[in-house]
Amino acid sequence: MLLTDRIPRHVGIIMDGNGRWAELRGLPRIEGHRRGAERSREVVEVAMEIGIKNLTLYAFSIENWQRPPSEVTTLMRLLELYLKKELREFMKRGIVFKTIGETYMLPENIQLLIKEAEEKTALNKGMTLTAALSYGGRNEILRAVKKVLHSGIRPEELTEDLFNSFLDTANLPGPDLIIRTSGEMRISNFLLWQSAYSELYFTDTLWPDFTRDEFLFAIQDYQQRERRFGNISVRS
Ligand code: FPP
Repeated sequence: MLLTDRIPRHVGIIMDGNGRWAELRGLPRIEGHRRGAERSREVVEVAMEIGIKNLTLYAFSIENWQRPPSEVTTLMRLLELYLKKELREFMKRGIVFKTIGETYMLPENIQLLIKEAEEKTALNKGMTLTAALSYGGRNEILRAVKKVLHSGIRPEELTEDLFNSFLDTANLPGPDLIIRTSGEMRISNFLLWQSAYSELYFTDTLWPDFTRDEFLFAIQDYQQRERRFGNISVRS
């Protein structure tokens, strides 16, 4: 049973295991990504249905540029198709689409599609869907530090809140829950600053098998957690 008064405000997902899913079936890795993109669509749908206000998907890390050029190219093609196909859906469902990361490194046609989606959905009132693309947490923090240095802010003026406003995620609350699929138990450079007090949920399920029920199960698991933020238990 889902507790409607304990829906996380922000969920981040590290969608891992597409390649292994395909390899296990003797299929090309891109088949795993294709199937993974379908799961991303489904998760967006479920998140909206249950009232999650912010969903951030780690779709392409800054380290992913090191993959073989053929895989990068096919991933970019998939991203292009996703953006083209989903914009209508975003508008229909009132989704605000955003990106975080070094998006200037993406192919120009994808940058244009991102710009179009961000502009067209900016005034929507529904869930904010953020795609982390060419994203790395350390890279984001370093860029924020550089912006602070250029801004002329004096060291004694700098607070956590102010620093936060220089990050790509400036207008997002920190993630309450971070989900990672495929059995790896690490953060892999995802939302490093923002995840300070996030609840972490790991599952062995590979991303292409991460169904609606598994997502709901993860949310229910989160709802059983006691979040203390460094304080003592409210029950004590
Ligand atoms: C990790 O699996 C997944 C990726 C690098 C790409 C994620 C992309 C998608 C799910 C499709 C596009 C989605 C959107 C929202 C545009 P992996 O290849 O690292 O798997 P492995 O660890 O088994 O090799």
